[in-house]
Amino acid sequence: MKVAVIGAGTIGSAVVRALSEAGHEVVATRRNLEKVGWLEEYGVKLTRNNREAVEWAEAVFLAVKPNKVGLVLGEVSDLLTGKFLISLAAGIGLNYLRRLAPKVKAVRAMPNIAILVKESFTAYATDLEGDDLETIKGFFSTFGRCIRVDEEHMDAITGLSGSGPAYVTVFLEAMVYGGLRVGLPRETARLAALQTLLGTAKLLMETDKHPAEVREWVITPGGTTIDGVFELEEGRVRTAVMKAVDAAAKKSRILSRKI
Ligand SMILES: NC(=O)c1ccc[n+]([C@@H]2O[C@H](COP(=O)([O-])OP(=O)(O)OC[C@H]3O[C@@H](n4cnc5c(N)ncnc54)[C@H](OP(=O)(O)O)[C@@H]3O)[C@@H](O)[C@H]2O)c1
Repeated sequence: MKVAVIGAGTIGSAVVRALSEAGHEVVATRRNLEKVGWLEEYGVKLTRNNREAVEWAEAVFLAVKPNKVGLVLGEVSDLLTGKFLISLAAGIGLNYLRRLAPKVKAVRAMPNIAILVKESFTAYATDLEGDDLETIKGFFSTFGRCIRVDEEHMDAITGLSGSGPAYVTVFLEAMVYGGLRVGLPRETARLAALQTLLGTAKLLMETDKHPAEVREWVITPGGTTIDGVFELEEGRVRTAVMKAVDAAAKKSRILSRKI
């Protein structure tokens, strides 16, 4: 399919790469094109001209900052009629998209940066059905896992999995520092922390076990792990993570009210 990605920044260029690797024809736009010259290696055409890109495309991904969505749609809305418009912007609702670009096949989606390794969790909200739904599912499955959710859950998704990679890197960095603190070489600490995170996620995903059950497999009475877990509980790690998700979801709701 012919796909335009408007705003080839951090998430937009990851989308561009995933789509072009999956065989779509992709045109990407932004103003400072020199920063994404590397995308040409993937056969992607780069332009500063949003109108030219949208006119050519059958599907348009919008990956600009939330406060730029109105500006960009104002520029290209007349060229969007009948096309897929897939917005990745936090806090931008379907009604807003349809108001600024009537007669589009509107989709609101929230991927995360793990698109870069095709392991994104992407949630999307849309009224599309049938072949149109299959088309957008096809796009999102090139990013990693995807599910359809009610739009009312999109701010919560933004706070959990959209922002999630940032939380995980904080925890991961803390694990590496923990390893350094007990004397491990830097690279050993890094690999031990990363593989532990990856392995635990895979174990939970593949066995469908509750995290508490897997934790019980690791904790032995009077053993080493319970001393570590005790310190985590004292540090109120769970409360901190829950508050992080809550704060980011709230911010997504605030963004939507401001626009
Ligand atoms: N980062 C994430 O992990 C993530 C995850 C999920 C969703 N999102 C959503 O994705 C969107 C982009 O976030 P980001 O982190 O990727 O931001 P970003 O890196 O700043 O990317 C936005 C890009 O838009 C370009 N841009 C600005 N005005 C433009 C215009 N008029 N026409 C074309 N391009 C324009 C900017 O490049 P120039 O200045 O060169 O034009 C910039 O590269 C946000 O709405 C965010 O909510 C981000």
